[in-house]
Amino acid sequence: MANDTGSNKKVSVAFCCLGNICRSPMAEAVFIHVAKDMRAEHLIDEVDSFGTSGFHVGDRPDRRTVATCRANSVAINHSSRQVRPSDFEEFNYIFAMDKSNLEDLNYMKPRGSKAKVLLFGDFREDATLPKIIDDPYYGGPDGFKYIYLQIDHFSRVFMKHLLEGKIEAA
Ligand code: 4NP
Repeated sequence: MANDTGSNKKVSVAFCCLGNICRSPMAEAVFIHVAKDMRAEHLIDEVDSFGTSGFHVGDRPDRRTVATCRANSVAINHSSRQVRPSDFEEFNYIFAMDKSNLEDLNYMKPRGSKAKVLLFGDFREDATLPKIIDDPYYGGPDGFKYIYLQIDHFSRVFMKHLLEGKIEAA
């Protein structure tokens, strides 16, 4: 059945940072929350997250990421994993948190694979928010509150474009 985009395809989206315990699991959780909030769930298939490194494979999200999600009534449940070549065929979009993640993903991306690899911050309308979602791991809780604002905003802009039919599955 056709969806609101006029296509019968849903989009699959993945988020990528370095360790997959702070930024990208928050992005996965907030993106799902925003999809429900904006009634765009029917346009979305799989949502996942992973890291470019294997430093924290199997670990739960950082307690500060969990606390920030909970403070905003966002459900979070993830176990860290490293990006694999099949991810570039499985997902329509892979969103990098920072430029280093973006470079690493583009280096790993198998030639001709379907995923569009972009900075998540490319989906920005509020120019007061930086495009780059900086690593908050070595900072305090305020860093986690700040990346939450960025992630919530980028998720809402992406969802708006999806609902307007400006984004389609590859
Ligand atoms: P993330 O943050 O990439 O947002 O998950 C980090 C978590 C752990 C490390 C670096 C960044 N680390 O070096 O262990």
